[in-house]
Amino acid sequence: MMPLDQLVAGAIEAFTSRFGRPPRFGAAAPGRVNLIGEHTDYNNGFVLPMAIDRWAIVVADLTHANNSTLWAIDLDQTVQCDFAGLRSPVAGSFANYLLGVVDQFAKRGDSIPNLDLAITSTVPIGAGLAGSAAIEVATATLLAEVVGARLDPLEKALLCQRAEHTFPGTPCGIMDMFIATGAQPNHALLIDCQSNTAEPIPLPPAESASVLIANTNVRHELATSAYAARRESCRSAAAKLGLTTLREAATTMGIPPIFSGRGLTDRESRCAEHVVCENERVRSAAAALGRGDLETVGGLMFDSHASLRDLFDVSCPELDLLVEVAAQMRSDGSVFGARMTGGGFGGCAVLLCRADRVTTVSDALAHRFSSRFTHPATLFTVAAVGASGACAL
Ligand code: GLA
Repeated sequence: MMPLDQLVAGAIEAFTSRFGRPPRFGAAAPGRVNLIGEHTDYNNGFVLPMAIDRWAIVVADLTHANNSTLWAIDLDQTVQCDFAGLRSPVAGSFANYLLGVVDQFAKRGDSIPNLDLAITSTVPIGAGLAGSAAIEVATATLLAEVVGARLDPLEKALLCQRAEHTFPGTPCGIMDMFIATGAQPNHALLIDCQSNTAEPIPLPPAESASVLIANTNVRHELATSAYAARRESCRSAAAKLGLTTLREAATTMGIPPIFSGRGLTDRESRCAEHVVCENERVRSAAAALGRGDLETVGGLMFDSHASLRDLFDVSCPELDLLVEVAAQMRSDGSVFGARMTGGGFGGCAVLLCRADRVTTVSDALAHRFSSRFTHPATLFTVAAVGASGACAL
C-alpha cells in the first residue's frame, strides 16, 4: 500500500494541476479496524480498535470566489457551495462528510472561509473500516488549521460524530472518530465509551502476527436502517431494565445476563445479551493482547463473531463463510482468531494470523469465497503495528 508521504504528494499534485496553485493547508486521518467490541460504543461500552495504514487526505487553499469547490479526486466528482449559506445535506453526495464538519465548526461560532479543496482516500468506503470517519477527522483537522482553532482529540472526535449524525445521517457511536484522532502507532486503543477515555494496548510484534482484512465487497441494502434499528432495540432494552444504557447491565445482571420477566422482546433480550457479554470479551481481549496471549484474543474474536451472527443478527453469509474458513485454520496455528468488523451486513472480516502463514490463509479464503459466491473477496494485510492518529500536513 502506498505510504502516506506518496499519497500526500499525489494529492498536492492533483490539487495544483486543477486549481493552478499549490494547497496551503493539508491533513490526513487513518481508517481503522476494530479488533473486538462491536455495537458496544453507542451502549457506553468498550471497544478495541486499531488505526490502519489507509488514509483520507484533504488539501485546500482559500479562495476569493463566492463558492467553495469540493473535489473528490478518486470519484472525479465536484460539488460547489457557499460555506456561509450551508443549511442541509446534498442528497447522496460525498460532500456531506465534509459539509457536516463545516457545519459543526459554524455551530461552534467559527466562520469558515470558502475553500478550494481536494480529497482522496485509500480507506474503502462502506466496508466497515471507518472510511467516513477518516474523511471527517481529516477535514476537521484541516479546518482547525484554517481558523486557528485548538481542538483536543476528544473534542475533535465528538465534533465529527455530530457531523456524521447530522449530514450523512448515520447515528454512529464514538469509536471510529476516537481512534482516528487518538491512535498511537504500535498500539490498539481500549476505549471506554462511557468516560470517553482510552488506554493504549501494545500490539504484537509484526514478525509474530499479521492483521489480515477480508473484504466481502458486499454492502447489504438494509445496513443503515438495520444499524439504527439495533441501536433502538438496545435503547428500549435498557429502558425496560430501568437502566440508562446497557453498559450498566453488566454489573447488575451477571454473565450471561438474566432478563426474564422484565418485558423485553426476543430481539431486545438478544441484543442486550450480546452487548453485556461483548463488553466482557473486550476487556478480556485487551488484557490478553497486553500480555501477548494471541490464542486467547483469537478465541474471543470467534466468540464475538458467533454472538454478532446469532444474537445481534448483523452478520451475513459472506462474512460467516470467511470466519468459518478461518476457524478451520485455527487447528494448525495459522489463524488465532477472526470475526466480522464494523457495523455488519457486509463489509469486512478481520483475522489475526501467524505472520508466516498469511499468504496460505489469504489463498484459502479467496479460493473458498469465490467457489461459493459469484464475486471475489478482496484480501489485504494492514501494518500489524497500526498507524498514528490524524495529523496536519
Ligand atoms: C459503525 C459505527 C460505530 C460502531 C460500529 C459497530 O462502524 O460507526 O460507531 O457502532 O458500527 O460496532
